[in-house]
Amino acid sequence: MTKPSETSAYTSTNRTAWEEVAPIHAKHNQARLIEAFKDPEFSFLDATATKALTSLDVAGKDVAQVCCNNGIELLSVQRMGAARCVGFDGAEGFVEQGRELAEAAGSDAEFVCCDAYDIPAEFHGGFDLAVITIGVLGWMPDIDGFFASIEKLLRPGGAVFIYEHHPILVMVKPGQVGDPFEWELSYFKTDPYVDASGLDYYGGEAYDATPNVSFSHKLSDIFMAAIKGGLAVEHFEELPNHISNTWWNVEHSDIGLPMSYTLVLRKAG
Ligand SMILES: C[S@@+](CC[C@H](N)C(=O)[O-])C[C@H]1O[C@@H](n2cnc3c(N)ncnc32)[C@H](O)[C@@H]1O
Repeated sequence: MTKPSETSAYTSTNRTAWEEVAPIHAKHNQARLIEAFKDPEFSFLDATATKALTSLDVAGKDVAQVCCNNGIELLSVQRMGAARCVGFDGAEGFVEQGRELAEAAGSDAEFVCCDAYDIPAEFHGGFDLAVITIGVLGWMPDIDGFFASIEKLLRPGGAVFIYEHHPILVMVKPGQVGDPFEWELSYFKTDPYVDASGLDYYGGEAYDATPNVSFSHKLSDIFMAAIKGGLAVEHFEELPNHISNTWWNVEHSDIGLPMSYTLVLRKAG
């Protein structure tokens, strides 16, 4: 298990890495997203997320999104009728982008810059639903501590909706459509994955990037962390949906690996 001092060293390194890439992502996306959110019908959520959130009766619920990045998913959840919406992210650059998009959307969603392991106590017990989507769990050095942090945000009976990359993808070398399909890493890898190639997964821009550190958590570790954190498993589905910007080689192969999953967890009422 990762020690608290190691966890904060990793999250601090990654915060630097995310702050560095925030203006680069903004350069690629922000103007287009501002225009998109001016249209009240615009949603960034795909059919899977929309269906799952509808079945969780999101309308009227107070919703937190942890590691919300620029808030495009949170703003879309709010458009499904959610009540108070608060996005938490460790990078000030992305929190600022979220505030700018909220303004364009005419939304009162709030954005808070803080670490996922250290969400201010004033938010504890304040939400009916916590949303975690697309590229979050792999940044967590301590998966047990992460779910403990999420559980604290919920009211009794509150739910967690997770829509994430399937961890089996970490075994496969990422690639473009025509790239070969190569097994790269063990599913049981426990040491951190250090990558110095930067985080511009939109434009592929090379820049002087602080190496980021990510972690591979098996599905069983994710389930057990949730259960140890006081969250019961209510629904789980493995899906063929490609929700990353990375594994086009897997999407276009006919090998049939699961590429994502949805997981709903529930705090006791
Ligand atoms: C790939 S994004 C995922 C969010 C969103 N689904 C998206 O696609 O943009 C990962 C986000 O997690 C944030 N993050 C990573 N580690 C964090 C931590 N320990 N505490 C808070 N935010 C963190 C990063 O700043 C980044 O905005």
